[in-house]
Amino acid sequence: MVKQGLDFSKIISKDAPPPAPPHEGDFKYNFVSGHTDPEAIPIEELAKSAAKVIREKGRKLAMYHSDGGPLGSIDLRKFLSKKLAATRGITASPDEIMITSGSTQGILLINDSFLDPGDTVITELFTYSGSIREARRRKANVIGIPLDDNGLRVDLVEQKLEELKEQGITPKYIYTIPTNQNPTGTNMPMDRRIKLLELSSKYGVPIFEDECYADLVFEGEWFKSIKALDEYNHVLHIGSLSKSLAPGVRLGYLVAPTELLAQFLSSKVDVGTNMITPMIAADFLEEHYQNHSDNVREKLHRKRDTLTSSLREHFGPTVKFFVPRGGQVLWIEFPKGTDTKKPLEAAKKQGIIYNAGADWSVEPEKASNFIRLCYANPSEEAIREGIGKLAQVFHEEISVP
Ligand SMILES: Cc1ncc(COP(=O)(O)O)c(C=O)c1O
Repeated sequence: MVKQGLDFSKIISKDAPPPAPPHEGDFKYNFVSGHTDPEAIPIEELAKSAAKVIREKGRKLAMYHSDGGPLGSIDLRKFLSKKLAATRGITASPDEIMITSGSTQGILLINDSFLDPGDTVITELFTYSGSIREARRRKANVIGIPLDDNGLRVDLVEQKLEELKEQGITPKYIYTIPTNQNPTGTNMPMDRRIKLLELSSKYGVPIFEDECYADLVFEGEWFKSIKALDEYNHVLHIGSLSKSLAPGVRLGYLVAPTELLAQFLSSKVDVGTNMITPMIAADFLEEHYQNHSDNVREKLHRKRDTLTSSLREHFGPTVKFFVPRGGQVLWIEFPKGTDTKKPLEAAKKQGIIYNAGADWSVEPEKASNFIRLCYANPSEEAIREGIGKLAQVFHEEISVP
Protein backbone atom coordinates (compact mmCIF):
# COMPACT_ATOMS: atom_id res chain seq x y z
CA MET A 1 0.00 0.00 0.00
CA VAL A 2 1.33 3.40 -0.93
CA LYS A 3 1.51 5.60 2.10
CA GLN A 4 0.45 9.13 1.46
CA GLY A 5 1.17 11.80 4.05
CA LEU A 6 -1.33 14.56 4.73
CA ASP A 7 -0.71 17.90 3.07
CA PHE A 8 -0.62 19.99 6.24
CA SER A 9 -0.19 23.20 4.26
CA LYS A 10 -3.92 22.88 3.47
CA ILE A 11 -4.75 22.41 7.14
CA ILE A 12 -2.65 25.07 8.82
CA SER A 13 -4.66 28.25 9.52
CA LYS A 14 -4.13 31.04 7.03
CA ASP A 15 -3.48 33.32 9.99
CA ALA A 16 -0.77 31.11 11.47
CA PRO A 17 2.68 32.72 11.44
CA PRO A 18 5.31 31.16 9.12
CA PRO A 19 7.17 28.12 10.50
CA ALA A 20 10.00 28.89 12.90
CA PRO A 21 13.46 28.81 11.30
CA PRO A 22 15.65 25.85 12.30
CA HIS A 23 17.64 26.30 15.50
CA GLU A 24 21.11 27.43 14.54
CA GLY A 25 22.93 25.81 17.43
CA ASP A 26 25.70 27.46 19.34
CA PHE A 27 28.12 30.14 18.23
CA LYS A 28 31.56 30.78 19.71
CA TYR A 29 30.97 34.53 19.68
CA ASN A 30 27.33 34.78 20.70
CA PHE A 31 26.11 38.38 20.84
CA VAL A 32 22.40 37.78 20.33
CA SER A 33 19.23 37.61 22.35
CA GLY A 34 19.39 38.06 26.12
CA HIS A 35 21.66 35.18 27.02
CA THR A 36 23.41 35.55 30.35
CA ASP A 37 26.88 34.67 31.64
CA PRO A 38 27.24 30.91 32.21
CA GLU A 39 29.91 31.66 34.83
CA ALA A 40 27.34 33.65 36.84
CA ILE A 41 24.93 30.72 37.22
CA PRO A 42 25.05 29.93 40.95
CA ILE A 43 25.34 26.16 40.46
CA GLU A 44 25.99 25.02 44.04
CA GLU A 45 23.44 27.33 45.62
CA LEU A 46 20.75 26.34 43.11
CA ALA A 47 21.52 22.66 43.62
CA LYS A 48 21.16 23.15 47.38
CA SER A 49 17.86 24.98 47.00
CA ALA A 50 16.58 22.36 44.55
CA ALA A 51 17.36 19.47 46.92
CA LYS A 52 15.82 21.35 49.84
CA VAL A 53 12.54 22.35 48.20
CA ILE A 54 12.02 19.00 46.51
CA ARG A 55 12.33 17.30 49.90
CA GLU A 56 10.17 19.84 51.67
CA LYS A 57 7.51 20.54 49.04
CA GLY A 58 7.90 17.92 46.34
CA ARG A 59 4.56 16.28 47.15
CA LYS A 60 2.76 19.46 46.18
CA LEU A 61 3.66 18.70 42.57
CA ALA A 62 0.93 16.05 42.56
CA MET A 63 -1.74 18.72 42.20
CA TYR A 64 -2.19 21.57 39.75
CA HIS A 65 -1.94 25.03 41.33
CA SER A 66 -1.08 23.60 44.74
CA ASP A 67 1.65 26.10 45.56
CA GLY A 68 -0.25 29.38 45.55
CA GLY A 69 -3.16 28.86 43.17
CA PRO A 70 -3.39 30.04 39.55
CA LEU A 71 -1.25 33.15 40.23
CA GLY A 72 1.70 30.85 40.85
CA SER A 73 4.24 30.09 43.55
CA ILE A 74 3.32 31.88 46.75
CA ASP A 75 6.93 31.85 47.96
CA LEU A 76 8.16 33.54 44.81
CA ARG A 77 5.31 36.08 44.90
CA LYS A 78 6.16 36.91 48.53
CA PHE A 79 9.81 37.35 47.62
CA LEU A 80 8.94 39.54 44.63
CA SER A 81 6.60 41.66 46.72
CA LYS A 82 9.54 42.47 49.06
CA LYS A 83 12.06 42.89 46.26
CA LEU A 84 9.83 45.19 44.21
CA ALA A 85 9.32 47.40 47.28
CA ALA A 86 13.02 47.49 48.10
CA THR A 87 14.51 47.95 44.62
CA ARG A 88 11.74 49.43 42.45
CA GLY A 89 9.64 51.37 44.97
CA ILE A 90 6.56 49.34 44.07
CA THR A 91 3.92 48.51 46.67
CA ALA A 92 2.28 45.28 45.53
CA SER A 93 0.93 42.49 47.69
CA PRO A 94 1.56 38.89 46.57
CA ASP A 95 -2.06 38.88 45.32
CA GLU A 96 -1.19 41.61 42.83
CA ILE A 97 1.64 39.57 41.32
CA MET A 98 1.28 36.76 38.81
CA ILE A 99 4.13 34.36 38.02
CA THR A 100 4.51 33.86 34.28
CA SER A 101 6.62 31.70 31.97
CA GLY A 102 9.19 34.39 31.30
CA SER A 103 8.04 37.98 30.95
CA THR A 104 7.19 36.97 27.37
CA GLN A 105 4.03 35.41 28.74
CA GLY A 106 3.15 38.70 30.46
CA ILE A 107 3.44 40.46 27.09
CA LEU A 108 1.25 37.80 25.54
CA LEU A 109 -1.44 37.97 28.23
CA ILE A 110 -1.70 41.76 28.14
CA ASN A 111 -1.95 41.83 24.36
CA ASP A 112 -4.42 38.98 24.37
CA SER A 113 -6.72 40.76 26.80
CA PHE A 114 -6.38 44.26 25.38
CA LEU A 115 -6.02 44.13 21.62
CA ASP A 116 -8.55 43.85 18.84
CA PRO A 117 -7.52 44.02 15.17
CA GLY A 118 -7.01 47.65 14.15
CA ASP A 119 -6.21 48.90 17.67
CA THR A 120 -3.35 51.33 18.09
CA VAL A 121 -0.46 50.97 20.53
CA ILE A 122 2.45 53.31 21.19
CA THR A 123 5.97 51.99 21.78
CA GLU A 124 9.53 53.23 21.63
CA LEU A 125 10.68 53.34 17.98
CA PHE A 126 13.59 51.02 18.80
CA THR A 127 12.30 48.32 21.11
CA TYR A 128 12.16 44.63 21.97
CA SER A 129 11.38 42.70 18.81
CA GLY A 130 9.12 40.27 20.67
CA SER A 131 6.86 43.08 21.85
CA ILE A 132 6.49 44.50 18.33
CA ARG A 133 5.75 41.00 17.03
CA GLU A 134 3.12 40.22 19.66
CA ALA A 135 1.20 43.46 19.08
CA ARG A 136 1.32 42.95 15.32
CA ARG A 137 0.19 39.35 15.66
CA ARG A 138 -3.06 40.81 16.95
CA LYS A 139 -3.14 43.13 13.96
CA ALA A 140 -2.51 46.26 16.01
CA ASN A 141 -1.17 49.44 14.49
CA VAL A 142 2.17 49.93 16.27
CA ILE A 143 3.41 53.52 16.43
CA GLY A 144 7.10 53.97 17.29
CA ILE A 145 8.21 57.14 19.07
CA PRO A 146 11.90 58.13 18.82
CA LEU A 147 14.28 57.98 21.77
CA ASP A 148 17.28 60.07 22.77
CA ASP A 149 20.02 59.46 25.35
CA ASN A 150 17.35 59.73 28.07
CA GLY A 151 15.07 57.10 26.60
CA LEU A 152 11.62 57.63 25.18
CA ARG A 153 10.96 61.20 23.95
CA VAL A 154 7.95 61.82 26.16
CA ASP A 155 7.37 65.21 24.50
CA LEU A 156 6.82 63.37 21.21
CA VAL A 157 4.49 60.91 22.93
CA GLU A 158 2.36 63.90 23.98
CA GLN A 159 2.32 65.24 20.42
CA LYS A 160 1.30 61.85 19.08
CA LEU A 161 -1.45 61.39 21.69
CA GLU A 162 -2.85 64.80 20.79
CA GLU A 163 -2.72 63.97 17.07
CA LEU A 164 -4.46 60.64 17.65
CA LYS A 165 -7.09 62.29 19.83
CA GLU A 166 -7.98 64.61 16.98
CA GLN A 167 -8.52 61.50 14.84
CA GLY A 168 -10.70 59.95 17.57
CA ILE A 169 -8.12 57.27 18.38
CA THR A 170 -7.25 56.22 21.95
CA PRO A 171 -4.25 53.87 21.98
CA LYS A 172 -4.64 50.74 24.07
CA TYR A 173 -1.33 51.25 25.85
CA ILE A 174 2.04 52.98 25.83
CA TYR A 175 4.71 50.27 26.02
CA THR A 176 8.04 51.36 27.43
CA ILE A 177 11.24 49.80 28.75
CA PRO A 178 12.32 52.71 30.96
CA THR A 179 15.23 51.02 32.74
CA ASN A 180 18.20 49.80 30.68
CA GLN A 181 16.12 50.03 27.55
CA ASN A 182 16.41 47.27 24.95
CA PRO A 183 18.11 47.92 22.55
CA THR A 184 19.38 51.46 23.25
CA GLY A 185 20.57 50.89 26.85
CA THR A 186 19.11 54.23 27.96
CA ASN A 187 17.57 55.03 31.35
CA MET A 188 14.53 57.28 31.46
CA PRO A 189 15.03 59.96 34.15
CA MET A 190 12.44 60.67 36.82
CA ASP A 191 10.99 63.80 35.24
CA ARG A 192 10.09 61.84 32.10
CA ARG A 193 8.61 59.00 34.15
CA ILE A 194 6.42 61.47 36.00
CA LYS A 195 5.41 63.23 32.78
CA LEU A 196 4.52 59.94 31.08
CA LEU A 197 2.25 59.07 33.98
CA GLU A 198 0.59 62.49 33.70
CA LEU A 199 -0.02 61.84 30.00
CA SER A 200 -1.46 58.45 30.83
CA SER A 201 -4.02 60.16 33.11
CA LYS A 202 -4.75 63.00 30.72
CA TYR A 203 -5.38 60.79 27.68
CA GLY A 204 -6.74 57.69 29.46
CA VAL A 205 -4.05 55.38 28.11
CA PRO A 206 -2.42 52.79 30.40
CA ILE A 207 1.35 52.45 30.60
CA PHE A 208 2.74 49.01 29.95
CA GLU A 209 6.09 49.08 31.76
CA ASP A 210 8.60 46.36 30.91
CA GLU A 211 11.37 46.30 33.50
CA CYS A 212 13.01 43.05 32.62
CA TYR A 213 16.49 44.64 32.96
CA ALA A 214 15.78 46.58 36.16
CA ASP A 215 18.17 44.57 38.37
CA LEU A 216 21.09 45.32 36.08
CA VAL A 217 21.93 48.99 36.77
CA PHE A 218 25.66 48.82 37.49
CA GLU A 219 26.57 52.51 37.39
CA GLY A 220 24.93 55.67 38.69
CA GLU A 221 21.46 56.31 40.01
CA TRP A 222 18.59 53.82 40.24
CA PHE A 223 15.38 55.52 39.20
CA LYS A 224 12.15 54.19 40.66
CA SER A 225 9.87 52.31 38.32
CA ILE A 226 6.91 54.18 36.81
CA LYS A 227 4.62 51.75 38.64
CA ALA A 228 6.07 53.09 41.92
CA LEU A 229 4.67 56.56 41.10
CA ASP A 230 1.28 55.25 40.08
CA GLU A 231 -1.52 56.17 42.48
CA TYR A 232 -4.40 55.25 40.20
CA ASN A 233 -3.42 51.89 38.71
CA HIS A 234 -2.52 53.24 35.30
CA VAL A 235 0.58 51.08 35.03
CA LEU A 236 0.92 47.40 34.21
CA HIS A 237 4.37 46.23 35.18
CA ILE A 238 6.27 43.16 34.00
CA GLY A 239 9.65 41.84 35.04
CA SER A 240 11.76 38.75 34.64
CA LEU A 241 14.30 36.49 36.28
CA SER A 242 15.77 35.83 32.82
CA LYS A 243 18.36 38.57 32.98
CA SER A 244 19.18 38.52 36.69
CA LEU A 245 19.18 34.73 37.18
CA ALA A 246 19.00 32.93 33.82
CA PRO A 247 16.72 32.84 30.77
CA GLY A 248 16.56 29.05 31.09
CA VAL A 249 14.52 29.30 34.30
CA ARG A 250 11.71 30.81 32.19
CA LEU A 251 10.25 32.87 35.00
CA GLY A 252 8.73 36.29 34.82
CA TYR A 253 6.03 38.23 36.65
CA LEU A 254 3.20 40.60 35.99
CA VAL A 255 2.09 43.22 38.52
CA ALA A 256 -1.45 44.57 38.19
CA PRO A 257 -4.60 45.08 40.26
CA THR A 258 -6.21 41.76 41.25
CA GLU A 259 -9.28 42.21 39.02
CA LEU A 260 -7.04 42.73 35.97
CA LEU A 261 -4.93 39.72 36.92
CA ALA A 262 -8.19 37.71 36.95
CA GLN A 263 -8.81 38.91 33.39
CA PHE A 264 -5.27 37.99 32.31
CA LEU A 265 -5.60 34.59 33.99
CA SER A 266 -8.44 33.70 31.65
CA SER A 267 -5.92 33.87 28.77
CA LYS A 268 -3.26 31.90 30.66
CA VAL A 269 -4.18 28.60 29.13
CA ASP A 270 -1.07 26.68 30.19
CA VAL A 271 -2.78 25.32 33.33
CA GLY A 272 -0.14 27.00 35.44
CA THR A 273 3.51 27.94 35.09
CA ASN A 274 5.96 25.17 35.93
CA MET A 275 5.83 24.82 39.74
CA ILE A 276 9.21 23.47 40.62
CA THR A 277 11.45 26.22 39.25
CA PRO A 278 9.67 29.04 41.13
CA MET A 279 10.05 27.03 44.35
CA ILE A 280 13.79 26.66 43.73
CA ALA A 281 14.20 30.27 42.60
CA ALA A 282 12.33 31.63 45.63
CA ASP A 283 14.45 29.62 48.04
CA PHE A 284 17.66 30.70 46.29
CA LEU A 285 16.69 34.38 46.00
CA GLU A 286 15.53 34.69 49.62
CA GLU A 287 19.06 33.90 50.71
CA HIS A 288 21.30 35.05 47.88
CA TYR A 289 19.52 37.80 45.91
CA GLN A 290 21.87 40.60 46.95
CA ASN A 291 25.19 38.76 46.51
CA HIS A 292 24.10 37.15 43.31
CA SER A 293 22.86 40.41 41.75
CA ASP A 294 26.05 42.23 42.80
CA ASN A 295 28.07 39.51 41.09
CA VAL A 296 26.00 39.66 37.88
CA ARG A 297 26.25 43.46 37.73
CA GLU A 298 29.99 43.45 38.33
CA LYS A 299 30.54 40.97 35.50
CA LEU A 300 28.31 42.95 33.15
CA HIS A 301 30.11 46.17 34.00
CA ARG A 302 33.47 44.65 33.06
CA LYS A 303 32.09 43.15 29.86
CA ARG A 304 30.52 46.44 28.82
CA ASP A 305 33.95 48.07 29.16
CA THR A 306 35.61 45.27 27.22
CA LEU A 307 33.05 45.57 24.44
CA THR A 308 33.23 49.35 24.14
CA SER A 309 37.03 49.36 24.08
CA SER A 310 37.12 46.50 21.54
CA LEU A 311 34.70 48.38 19.30
CA ARG A 312 36.82 51.53 19.50
CA GLU A 313 39.92 49.52 18.71
CA HIS A 314 38.52 47.61 15.72
CA PHE A 315 35.83 49.87 14.28
CA GLY A 316 37.25 53.26 15.27
CA PRO A 317 35.13 56.31 14.53
CA THR A 318 33.03 54.41 11.96
CA VAL A 319 30.61 53.43 14.71
CA LYS A 320 28.69 55.50 17.23
CA PHE A 321 27.12 54.16 20.38
CA PHE A 322 25.59 55.31 23.62
CA VAL A 323 27.44 53.82 26.61
CA PRO A 324 24.77 52.20 28.78
CA ARG A 325 25.11 52.25 32.56
CA GLY A 326 23.31 48.98 32.94
CA GLY A 327 21.70 46.09 31.12
CA GLN A 328 23.24 43.68 28.67
CA VAL A 329 23.15 45.33 25.28
CA LEU A 330 24.87 47.92 23.14
CA TRP A 331 23.13 49.58 20.21
CA ILE A 332 25.64 50.50 17.56
CA GLU A 333 25.11 52.88 14.69
CA PHE A 334 26.97 52.55 11.40
CA PRO A 335 27.07 55.23 8.73
CA LYS A 336 23.75 55.87 6.96
CA GLY A 337 23.22 53.49 4.06
CA THR A 338 25.06 50.57 5.71
CA ASP A 339 22.97 47.40 5.53
CA THR A 340 23.92 45.47 8.65
CA LYS A 341 21.92 42.38 7.59
CA LYS A 342 24.25 41.79 4.68
CA PRO A 343 27.32 40.49 6.58
CA LEU A 344 25.24 38.29 8.89
CA GLU A 345 25.72 34.98 7.04
CA ALA A 346 29.45 35.57 6.57
CA ALA A 347 29.73 36.41 10.29
CA LYS A 348 27.99 33.16 11.22
CA LYS A 349 30.56 31.22 9.20
CA GLN A 350 33.19 32.77 11.49
CA GLY A 351 31.24 31.67 14.55
CA ILE A 352 29.84 35.15 15.26
CA ILE A 353 26.19 35.95 15.66
CA TYR A 354 24.72 39.41 16.21
CA ASN A 355 21.30 41.05 15.87
CA ALA A 356 20.77 43.28 12.85
CA GLY A 357 19.10 46.50 13.98
CA ALA A 358 16.13 46.36 11.61
CA ASP A 359 14.44 43.67 13.72
CA TRP A 360 14.57 45.93 16.77
CA SER A 361 12.70 48.79 15.19
CA VAL A 362 9.01 49.50 14.62
CA GLU A 363 10.16 51.00 11.32
CA PRO A 364 12.88 48.56 10.19
CA GLU A 365 14.38 50.94 7.61
CA LYS A 366 15.24 53.43 10.38
CA ALA A 367 17.55 50.88 12.03
CA SER A 368 19.01 49.04 9.04
CA ASN A 369 22.38 50.70 9.79
CA PHE A 370 22.39 49.54 13.45
CA ILE A 371 23.42 46.34 15.16
CA ARG A 372 22.57 45.16 18.64
CA LEU A 373 25.21 43.30 20.61
CA CYS A 374 24.41 41.48 23.83
CA TYR A 375 27.62 41.33 25.85
CA ALA A 376 26.44 39.14 28.74
CA ASN A 377 27.11 35.66 27.37
CA PRO A 378 30.60 35.69 25.78
CA SER A 379 33.65 35.80 28.03
CA GLU A 380 35.78 38.97 27.95
CA GLU A 381 38.27 37.10 25.80
CA ALA A 382 35.53 36.01 23.37
CA ILE A 383 34.27 39.62 23.23
CA ARG A 384 37.74 40.90 22.27
CA GLU A 385 38.33 38.16 19.72
CA GLY A 386 34.78 38.25 18.35
CA ILE A 387 34.80 42.00 17.75
CA GLY A 388 38.15 41.75 15.95
CA LYS A 389 36.70 39.07 13.67
CA LEU A 390 33.44 40.97 13.22
CA ALA A 391 35.36 44.03 12.01
CA GLN A 392 37.15 41.83 9.48
CA VAL A 393 33.86 40.35 8.23
CA PHE A 394 32.25 43.79 7.92
CA HIS A 395 35.28 45.07 6.09
CA GLU A 396 35.27 42.18 3.63
CA GLU A 397 31.50 42.12 3.10
CA ILE A 398 30.50 45.78 3.10
CA SER A 399 33.81 47.70 3.26
CA VAL A 400 33.12 48.98 6.78
CA PRO A 401 35.29 50.06 8.55
C1 LIG B 1 12.51 44.10 26.95
C2 LIG B 1 12.26 42.63 27.03
N1 LIG B 1 11.10 42.21 27.53
C3 LIG B 1 10.82 40.91 27.64
C4 LIG B 1 11.73 39.95 27.23
C5 LIG B 1 11.35 38.52 27.36
O1 LIG B 1 12.21 37.81 28.17
P1 LIG B 1 11.77 36.57 29.07
O2 LIG B 1 10.54 35.97 28.50
O3 LIG B 1 12.93 35.65 29.02
O4 LIG B 1 11.52 37.13 30.44
C6 LIG B 1 12.95 40.35 26.70
C7 LIG B 1 13.94 39.37 26.23
O5 LIG B 1 15.02 39.65 25.80
C8 LIG B 1 13.23 41.73 26.60
O6 LIG B 1 14.37 42.19 26.12
